[in-house]
Amino acid sequence: MNQFGSKKEFLQFAIYIARAAGKKTLDHFKKGVQVDRKDDDSPVTVADREAEAWMRERITEKYPDHGIIGEEYGTVGEQKSVQWILDPIDGTQSYIHGVPLYTTLIGITIDGEPEIGVIYAPATDELCDAAVGLGTRFNGHYCKVGNTRSFRESTLLSTDITTIYEEGLDQPFNEILKRCRLHRTWGDAYGHMMVAIGRADIMFDPLLNIWDAAPLLPILREAGGVFLDLAGHARIDSGHGFSTNELLAGEILSILESFPKKTS
Ligand code: IPD
Ligand code: CA
Ligand code: CA
Repeated sequence: MNQFGSKKEFLQFAIYIARAAGKKTLDHFKKGVQVDRKDDDSPVTVADREAEAWMRERITEKYPDHGIIGEEYGTVGEQKSVQWILDPIDGTQSYIHGVPLYTTLIGITIDGEPEIGVIYAPATDELCDAAVGLGTRFNGHYCKVGNTRSFRESTLLSTDITTIYEEGLDQPFNEILKRCRLHRTWGDAYGHMMVAIGRADIMFDPLLNIWDAAPLLPILREAGGVFLDLAGHARIDSGHGFSTNELLAGEILSILESFPKKTS
């Protein structure tokens, strides 16, 4: 099979397991699920664990030679060429508060390159997928980022203002905020998806793990936009990032350069 053939096959399988695992999370959604705390004090529920465990089983059955990196159950096969990167519930805070903007995420890297991304929002039944060279689709239709070219017309999204302060990024963020038309906190991966489908213009995230970022890069790139870390590199392992279109990216980067991150 050529490179596009296997990419298509991986993408199809990723869509299938993201949708099925995502739907499983609905069994506990808005039902008062118990919230446990992880070592880093972040919340986790049985729904996160069940969804990731189910995806891992399916991937291992179908592709025993691939590696898996998951938020809840760690890494296996880190030397393998194909890596499945899983976040069973992105937006756990939304999930436990009964807000329908949480998603199930799958990113796939091939030889270290982020090639495939899937974002599935179970509660709204919206699915965004991409593979490098094959375009980005939203609910099965090809989609593009918006063409807003002026900050004055732009909609900015973020997840959590506290984290922006804690990460010493309040100055650049406030500057971006001042220049934008509208700011909303429809955040987490759902916010990045909104940029990819042209419903918002900028999604700013000061704190990302690899499982948060892995699907975003191919999805934004194939939608004609960018997913960059705060230094302007197209990477998924920097620990932060933003999504936008090509027209606004330069101004965001120049603000980030003018107001460097504070270090405590
Ligand atoms: C969170 C989201 C959020 C990011 C946080 C993550 P979770 O993931 O991805 O956008 O800013 O750092 O922890 O815990 O809801 O899967
Ligand atoms: Ca996440
Ligand atoms: Ca998660």
